[in-house]
Amino acid sequence: MLHVLKHPLITHKLTQMRKKQTGTKDFRQNLDEIAGLMAYEITRDLPIQKVQIETPVQVCDTYELEKEIILVPILRAGLGMVNGICNLIPTVKVAHVGLYRDEETLEPHVYFEKYPKSIKDSIVMIVDPMLATGGSANVAIDMVKKQGAKSIRLVCLVGAPQGVANVEKEHPDIDIYLAALDEKLNEKGYIVPGLGDAGDRIFGTK
Ligand code: PRP
Ligand code: URA
Repeated sequence: MLHVLKHPLITHKLTQMRKKQTGTKDFRQNLDEIAGLMAYEITRDLPIQKVQIETPVQVCDTYELEKEIILVPILRAGLGMVNGICNLIPTVKVAHVGLYRDEETLEPHVYFEKYPKSIKDSIVMIVDPMLATGGSANVAIDMVKKQGAKSIRLVCLVGAPQGVANVEKEHPDIDIYLAALDEKLNEKGYIVPGLGDAGDRIFGTK
């Protein structure tokens, strides 16, 4: 199921990221801030469990998060979303999935993977700023499912309708969260209007 998170702060910050004159420092900072704001929205329905604690005044029944959360940034660009989410949920563990998209075929290629042992019983959030054809997201979801993950959310900044449809077709059990659903893909597989190459803009590699 697709959730597009509409919030004036998210929209404003994403607009700054979309501008072609925005440099690496501001691009990164806005991504960091949006990731934190998105994390607040996508964690609304996290399961909580009853616990008994002692305050300085008396014993009371209250609640805390029931499950561990594992972030899975898709390298490289997904790394730009880790810090903002960690600031909000400092106990998250971080897995890594390394994928790059072949510029000609647009097919994703896996070059790295590393997971915490607890992935089977955790809530997994795969993060990547861009959901274009959906190929990279589908492979990343396959990879974490292979590790036994059962509760998986896909969190991206900008998505194209084609990418959303591909993920929904391959993985109908996954909730997809976006800050914006854009118009289409161009002939090079870039999201239109999009924000360009997220990895290059985060790391200053072009
Ligand atoms: C970008 C982006 C996604 C992927 C999206 O990564 O960060 O991972 O493309 O495209 P898709 O939906 O068509 O698969 P890229 O392959 O450019 O690698 P990078 O993050 O290292 O720049
Ligand atoms: N990857 C990006 O970084 N940007 C796009 O528009 C599409 C894929």
